[in-house]
Amino acid sequence: MSFDRTIKIAPSILSADFANFGQEIQAIEAQGADWVHVDVMDGHFVPNLTFGPAMCKAIRPHIKTVMDVHLMIAPVDPYIEAFAEAGADVITAHIEAGPHIHRTLQAIRANGAKAGVALNPGTPASAVEYLLDMVDLICVMTVNPGFGGQKFIHSQVEKVKELSRMIGSRPIHIEIDGGIDPTTAPLMADAGADVLVAGSAVFKGGSVSAPEVYGQNIRAIREAASGVYA
Ligand code: DX5
Ligand code: ZN
Repeated sequence: MSFDRTIKIAPSILSADFANFGQEIQAIEAQGADWVHVDVMDGHFVPNLTFGPAMCKAIRPHIKTVMDVHLMIAPVDPYIEAFAEAGADVITAHIEAGPHIHRTLQAIRANGAKAGVALNPGTPASAVEYLLDMVDLICVMTVNPGFGGQKFIHSQVEKVKELSRMIGSRPIHIEIDGGIDPTTAPLMADAGADVLVAGSAVFKGGSVSAPEVYGQNIRAIREAASGVYA
């Protein structure tokens, strides 16, 4: 995985057809997805349950781009090795998920994956100040984690601006996750985000038999976000 700050669209397969992940992934990648975002939930850290390392391993052969695994689980550390072995390129853990985020990030890198840290909407940007030399990605939650289709929380635009200033020229991605569509994407791109996760806004109206809708949805987000540089 090489580093750059161009806008990357990362569809969340939380909004895909759960009976058909392989074809859904092939469809979104063929339609322009840059990364594939995989939301892992444990029914404890967040009030919803999704999938674990075995599912990640099963879908891995279908992902030709980047497998971006967002862990909304607590504890995190006992599962890092399994998600790395499942083939995750990026593993993101929540700062709120345990008392030892520093150790967690070390473990992610030691297992050969890029290390991401996610911040819930109530967590300040300053929480990552002493982690900047050990993260490859900072994920700003723009909804409370747990479900797709929620409303974007506007106060997070300021947080992304602050993080962007803190990061400076360091090779750290800023990812935003939740409520991203062609209206909210440009606010975040302008603030400094480069990885835009979108679930409902990408999968809305499409299917593996109508994949061109995924393409239209992805392009609409990318063009809205890129417009800020035009
Ligand atoms: C929320 C997840 C998100 C979610 C985004 O807990 O982390 O990745 O799928 O879905 P939308 O884009 O529908 O808000
Ligand atoms: Zn996510």
